[in-house]
Amino acid sequence: MENFSFAQLLYLVATALFIMGIKKLSKVKTARSGNALAAVGMGLAIVITLVAPGLGIKLNWPMVAMGCLGGGLLGLIMAKRVEMTGMPELVALLNGFGGLASTFVALSEFWGRYLGQTDLTATAASSDEGLLLGGAVWAVAIVLSVLVGTVTFTGSLMAMGKLSGRLSGNPILLPGRHLIVAIVLFGGLYMGYLAGFSEVGDSAMYMILGLTACAAIFGVVSVLPIGGADMPVVVSLLNSYSGIAAAMAGFVIGNSLLIVAGALVGASGMILTVIMCKAMNRSLGNVLVGGFGGDAVAVGGADAADYEGVKSAGPEEAAMILEAATSVIFVPGYGMAVAQAQHVVKELGEELEARGCKVSYAIHPVAGRMPGHMNVLLAESDVPYEQLFELERINGEFKTTDVTVIVGANDVVNPEAIENPASPIAGMPILNTHESGTVLMIKRSLSPGYAGIKNPLFERDNCYMCFGDGKAFIQEMLIELKEG
Ligand code: TAP
Repeated sequence: MENFSFAQLLYLVATALFIMGIKKLSKVKTARSGNALAAVGMGLAIVITLVAPGLGIKLNWPMVAMGCLGGGLLGLIMAKRVEMTGMPELVALLNGFGGLASTFVALSEFWGRYLGQTDLTATAASSDEGLLLGGAVWAVAIVLSVLVGTVTFTGSLMAMGKLSGRLSGNPILLPGRHLIVAIVLFGGLYMGYLAGFSEVGDSAMYMILGLTACAAIFGVVSVLPIGGADMPVVVSLLNSYSGIAAAMAGFVIGNSLLIVAGALVGASGMILTVIMCKAMNRSLGNVLVGGFGGDAVAVGGADAADYEGVKSAGPEEAAMILEAATSVIFVPGYGMAVAQAQHVVKELGEELEARGCKVSYAIHPVAGRMPGHMNVLLAESDVPYEQLFELERINGEFKTTDVTVIVGANDVVNPEAIENPASPIAGMPILNTHESGTVLMIKRSLSPGYAGIKNPLFERDNCYMCFGDGKAFIQEMLIELKEG
């Protein structure tokens, strides 16, 4: 009993570490330490669960060692190898694994109970008395854990396929998809009900397997119709689902920390999803119904023929414009990530500062392909946090800024969002770069951004298109600036 109490106390410490970690993640400056705190909390949680006898878990140590070593090694390799641009896919895959783990926990408990193998755990599930909150809750928790966990797994695999280009980024609209969704959802829930409340033995087992299959199909058919542009929102939503599934698995095995950690992930994932939808001026329902966005240039079909009077500037001309500037705002976007231009951007910023120019960086909440994408890249190149400004804080500054340098951003600076109510991105808050004295727009061509629509900024009198790869162009501009 003493051990049990001590373990619970340490669980509380782990919970506090999770909460402090998430709090710190809300600020760029403290995000790194927040991540570390949450990791320590998770490490602590694993150790307590494994070693505290009061928690009553019978362990097969060689299996535990294999799991820890195999999983740890795989995680390390994936984290080392992933490119910054591939991060959303990795997050999608990891969410999927989280969901799958919850499904496995629930299935193994279910089998343990129905096949009489009650030695899987010594939790309340193995005895008649004291199921965490009673038998019905336990049964509901099993069904929800399998349902949400499996939907998260297959949905995340689809999201990963779309983000990595293995599946088309265009909405895939299967014939009769609404019917399929209705059949697998209601069929699955009915089988879940039978498994938990009506059937016993083999029959219950078949029902729970039927529920698992239905949930797997539901995950696939609900993500396929959503366009690639909305995948980051889907990934965030699935992240929230993986938390809900974990919390349910916590009820199943009677583990309070799993319930708390799952609830934290579920709630924070949902909050992030809502923030992203707001930043794109879309409702979650609108995102989930699908049909918006697709492979990069697909939707609006905007191309060079749609533009008139576009002016361009080479590195030398652009350097001359910067030489005369007293204030410069950099606006990074997805193209900066593709070009890996963050280090040269920082070098250019330092060069301008050394010449007495005021330098700032403007961050749009959905620039790039995942939340905080630009913050991560700029932090990687050690841009001082004091120079990073969120949209609300910097939007008033463009009017009084000499030059705005846009590096691979497009949709997030598209004035259509505020000037054309019929535009697909109408109402999305944008960075008002068009208000600055001169705009240097660094990108490779006149191709559209993820929303696939024309950007009239390219035609504005104060805008110069700087055609080229983000990194190469800035490198050349920097050389010109230093030589000039
Ligand atoms: P986008 O509008 O996608 O534009 C990126 C631009 O980068 C492209 O127009 C491309 O033009 C350019 N580019 C690509 N490779 C480049 C390179 N090597 N060098 C220079 N430029 C390069 O990016 P954004 O402004 O960051 O907007 C993000 C979009 O993603 C928004 O539509 C947003 O709603 C969507 N989205 C984001 C999120 C999150 S959480 N970030 C979530 C959901 C949706 P070229 O091909 O001509 O070079």
